[in-house]
Amino acid sequence: MSVGAPPRIDRADIQGNVLRAYGSTYPCTAYVFVGASDGAAGRAWLGEIAGGVSSDEDWSGGKPQSHRNVAVTCAGLVALGVPEAVLATFSDEFRQGMAARSEMLGDLGPSAAGHWDSGLGSGAAHVLVIVSARSRNEIETELASLRGSIEQASGVSIVHEQYAELLPPPAGDPSAPPREQFGFSDGAAQPAIAGVSDDSAPGGGVPLAGGSWRALALGEFVLGYPDEDTLVDPLQRLPSAPADPLGRSGTYMVYRKLRQDVALFRRVLRDAAARYGSGDEELLAAKVVGRWRNGTPLVTSPDRPDPTFSAGAPGSNSFRYLDVDVDGKRCPLGAHIRRSNPRDALGWRGLDDSGLLSFRHRIIRRGVPYGPPLPADVLEDDGIDRGLVFVCFNASISRQFESVQLQWLNDGNGFHLGHDSDFLLGSPLGTGKMTLQGDPPFMLSPQGTFVTTRGGEYLFMPGIAALRALAGGIES
Ligand code: HEM
Repeated sequence: MSVGAPPRIDRADIQGNVLRAYGSTYPCTAYVFVGASDGAAGRAWLGEIAGGVSSDEDWSGGKPQSHRNVAVTCAGLVALGVPEAVLATFSDEFRQGMAARSEMLGDLGPSAAGHWDSGLGSGAAHVLVIVSARSRNEIETELASLRGSIEQASGVSIVHEQYAELLPPPAGDPSAPPREQFGFSDGAAQPAIAGVSDDSAPGGGVPLAGGSWRALALGEFVLGYPDEDTLVDPLQRLPSAPADPLGRSGTYMVYRKLRQDVALFRRVLRDAAARYGSGDEELLAAKVVGRWRNGTPLVTSPDRPDPTFSAGAPGSNSFRYLDVDVDGKRCPLGAHIRRSNPRDALGWRGLDDSGLLSFRHRIIRRGVPYGPPLPADVLEDDGIDRGLVFVCFNASISRQFESVQLQWLNDGNGFHLGHDSDFLLGSPLGTGKMTLQGDPPFMLSPQGTFVTTRGGEYLFMPGIAALRALAGGIES
């Protein structure tokens, strides 16, 4: 298949942090969910803040101190007066919202929508303003100005607020990449996108037979552009998108607040390591994720982490599973990263001998940890809320995020693992156990849940022009 030249990307119209991460330059993030009880007032306020929204354009004049980005829920579109005929052009899952689909996502028991944090999943959250800043002082200044604009506008109010911040690097390694609460380097593996990603860093795109890779079409993530279907469609049709002017340069955003029980995770690893052949707790931890804590993939380095590993180095992410690890003895078949992006592990069934079974299910991850880290070596929960604000962007929530969550993380069938779910996240829909392939194999027994959903929303992050149009009022 010939992929052709990627389309010209209108970076000034795509919101910032979608295609290129703000990254560790902006360690502080606040998610402010706003409700609008009056459509006209809501649109007027949106118009006021829309001017300050960051795009994906290169920064001239240095890095800005902070960024503001905006997304809306379906209830928000209704509250802002978008007519039903236009709403009908949005995807079904977005219109239903995350709470309505939470049981299917595996949010049961303590994760059930009825227990979610106030303001999330109740229909009250309409507009999400994301503020990203370089320091706590700067984010406080930005938040004060945002809160001021909300207080002054009648008919809009804050219904939920979440602060998140990158964790300090591990002791003795100040230049280490950001880690999540369980202690693993996170966020480095991202999809390679034609026209956006650096070609010298293969591994993020589509693995091709013969060992090469190609980047994914932009339309897998940003609406209004050709996607992978367009590339093989003789008529070159664009994927389904909301009606103009909203359909151009937008993306669907998934927001999930995931609480992590770090003490339980540590206890389970310690107890299991006592039974594990080598007794190596760090190896066991790496087997659960598929990478060592510093990000070194198990597939390329099965016995120990590479201390010089750098996620940004060319080729660092270009591993596959079938060539060296078909049976999962290096990286278990059920490891978190092998499930969430199986690369070639599901086999070759594409029109061009590519990993068709996995490349239509990629997501751009932009999560940020929240809460303070649990001090090293503490094995009892201190009752403090900590975890991950999981955020991802995709053109189709059902084909991308939900497929990964439902078919690959919550269930093991696709990997010949029966109903084993992802051991890192756990799911009441699965068995709770994990098998580490080897001679002999080792089984991690079912344990309490490490990760609990505290709330979430499906959102639409419009392009910059579409955001202005939304503020001006959409007519059918
Ligand atoms: C608290 C919850 C979670 C934790 C602690 C976590 C942790 C991690 C870690 C440590 C990595 C490896 C580093 C990297 O590749 O960047 C990773 C990769 C990944 N995770 Fe998660 N994750 C969580 C939830 C999720 C969820 C809910 C999804 C999707 C529904 C997901 C999808 C992915 C994907 C797609 C990758 C990249 C795999 C690759 O491309 O090789 N994760 N995660």
